[in-house]
Amino acid sequence: MLSEVLLVSAPGKVILHGEHAVVHGKVALAVALNLRTFLRLQPHSNGKVDLSLPNIGIKWAWDVARLQLLDTSFLEQGDVTTPTPELVEKLKEVAGLPDDCAVTESLAVLAFLYLYLSICRKQRALPSLDIAVWSELPHGAGLGSSAAYSVCLAAALLTVCEEIPNPLKDGDCVNRWTKEDLELINKWAFQGERVIHGNPSGVDNAVSTWGRFQCGPSSSPCRPPALQILLTNTKVPRNTRTLVAGVRNRLLKFPEIVAPLLTSIDAISLECERVLGEMGEAPAPEQYLVLEELIDMNQHHLNALGVGHASLDQLCQVTRARGLHSKLTGAGGGGCGITLLKPGLEQPEVEATKQALTSCGFDCWETSIGAPGVSIHSATSLDSRVQQALDGL
Ligand code: PMV
Repeated sequence: MLSEVLLVSAPGKVILHGEHAVVHGKVALAVALNLRTFLRLQPHSNGKVDLSLPNIGIKWAWDVARLQLLDTSFLEQGDVTTPTPELVEKLKEVAGLPDDCAVTESLAVLAFLYLYLSICRKQRALPSLDIAVWSELPHGAGLGSSAAYSVCLAAALLTVCEEIPNPLKDGDCVNRWTKEDLELINKWAFQGERVIHGNPSGVDNAVSTWGRFQCGPSSSPCRPPALQILLTNTKVPRNTRTLVAGVRNRLLKFPEIVAPLLTSIDAISLECERVLGEMGEAPAPEQYLVLEELIDMNQHHLNALGVGHASLDQLCQVTRARGLHSKLTGAGGGGCGITLLKPGLEQPEVEATKQALTSCGFDCWETSIGAPGVSIHSATSLDSRVQQALDGL
């Protein structure tokens, strides 16, 4: 067991192209978003496991001695176990959650307990730990906040239990794990996601782990160039399941019309992937023009699939009036949209656009996509963003 403090971060994700089409076997381009979740793990010796999640106001503590006495045979043996619904029920008893516990809170606690008990039970004794997680990501907005949480937990618990080595060397501010270690982190993070979401696709935890875009199940992920974007949360609540069902119904009702739309979205994703691959270090203005056209075409297709929303139309109009191009990202029906920021755009213009979006009642972040995946930071790092995260913890 390691005795040092660990500070881990993992990014959220946005879908650049291919939402909904991916449900029907087409390609999706999911990229890491440079808004991150930070986790600090401090081993201690007070016989408790403490979990604090300041973003949602959670503070929980369990006695290690009590957890140690549990019959954890329900966690099956094997390298990476799978959370069945029966197991999640058992975990609820272990957690001691009150009946009126909010859903987000209860799922976050269950995912933590699942990963803690599963990963740490190979130790001679369960470790006493203090864990705090803080996020720059809004939750429930389709930006992969739960995956970033599961990835941070898996990385920190595997490292403290020495299942994978701490890649941080003396003098490093930040470092990443090897490919094999990332594979193990990703596998465990996926199990955490299954506790939270039941049957997720696994794309969110993969992007948060690798920081790369996934392009269909068969192709190998590669890291896109960093693109500056505005990320806007319309704050209109939406339900992914209902929107996915709506597209399926439209496809069944009008197969001759909707199937070509999905094929066209697939072609947009592939063209975008090709252009990103060619952009390299010094992107040309014409390449940005292509990215903008692809954004516009896909936004129209998504509207035709029935997953648009008046708030997203407003977002597109506001940015269009300033010569910028936007599309929804994720399930649609509200939720979030992305706006591409071309290089050379003056900062006052960016600020004015953010201001215009904020006055529509939206939340707006200037950020980038193409961020690194899960990373470990020096707890004494002078990086201002890490310091801000530590203040949040
Ligand atoms: O729930 P979100 O906003 O991350 O979007 C999910 C993306 C969909 O393609 C609509 C559904 C899916 O499972 O891929």
